[in-house]
Amino acid sequence: MITEQVQVLTNRKIAEATYEMVLQAEMASKMKPGQFVNLKIDGFLLRRPISICQYDQFKHTFTIIYKVVGDGTKKLTTLQSGDSLDCMGPLGNHFPIEKETTAILVGGGVGVPPLYETAKQLIAANTQVTVVLGFADRAAAFYVEAFKQLGAIVYVATDNGTLGTHGRVTNVIANENLQAEYIYACGPEAMLRALETHFEKGYLSFEARMACGIGACMACVCKDRQDTDLYYRICKEGPVFPVGKVGF
Ligand SMILES: Cc1cc2nc3c(=O)[nH]c(=O)nc-3n(C[C@H](O)[C@H](O)[C@H](O)COP(=O)(O)OP(=O)(O)OC[C@H]3O[C@@H](n4cnc5c(N)ncnc54)[C@H](O)[C@@H]3O)c2cc1C
Ligand code: FES
Repeated sequence: MITEQVQVLTNRKIAEATYEMVLQAEMASKMKPGQFVNLKIDGFLLRRPISICQYDQFKHTFTIIYKVVGDGTKKLTTLQSGDSLDCMGPLGNHFPIEKETTAILVGGGVGVPPLYETAKQLIAANTQVTVVLGFADRAAAFYVEAFKQLGAIVYVATDNGTLGTHGRVTNVIANENLQAEYIYACGPEAMLRALETHFEKGYLSFEARMACGIGACMACVCKDRQDTDLYYRICKEGPVFPVGKVGF
């Protein structure tokens, strides 16, 4: 993990209240799929954790996708090409890449970005990838074509039915009878809990309110499923945990 002034290359709106930012950074050479960075935004004490969507280890660039939900992410939208940003990363563990098998990748809202690099690497490892993306509505949807271009089979669910299946990602999985050896998922806890009833093997990436992002403050702990005296820091031992490891 390093702290570095990274340079904004592009920062553009790609969906309702959703932006894609490409950054130039030495730390890109150390990134793995499913990790995150912690951004210091001018005027805010606490850093904001954002997942790494994709990276290029030769060009030293990486991409984040962020949704505007409060003042910090709103401020991020004002950054332009040439601006710099204080960035700590890459942080957390990562999605293991299972080779020559089948995988279903499920993302809900801002849980979609870390699955993009994961899909890319799974496909490169000869794993057959099906992606199920969940959004509030058509206006909030992003990267549907980008996942298809990687070679994944892509399904979409929206809460109001304006794109893809009307309902949840789990409706798609049940309706289409989707099956695979491994599940890879990132999104709200309720979604992760529901997925555990469909899949026995795989990896879930958890979100939590974070403060330090480096394992020092215990703001982000969750409990072990079996041993309720055992705690994990989502920023350090996570955010990715095997199916069945975390107690809800
Ligand atoms: C590991 C991880 C990866 C994430 N990846 C993404 C991503 O790729 N794209 C994206 O849009 N969002 C992502 N989030 C959520 C993102 O961190 C929050 O939306 C963001 O911090 C909100 O900041 P704000 O100042 O706009 O909102 P405010 O609500 O004003 O933030 C106030 C405080 O609460 C914290 N906070 C608010 N919401 C969250 C949240 N959901 N998770 C953690 N801390 C929060 C902020 O860091 C800040 O300290 C991720 C969160 C985690 C933990
Ligand atoms: S945010 Fe401080 S320990 Fe995880």
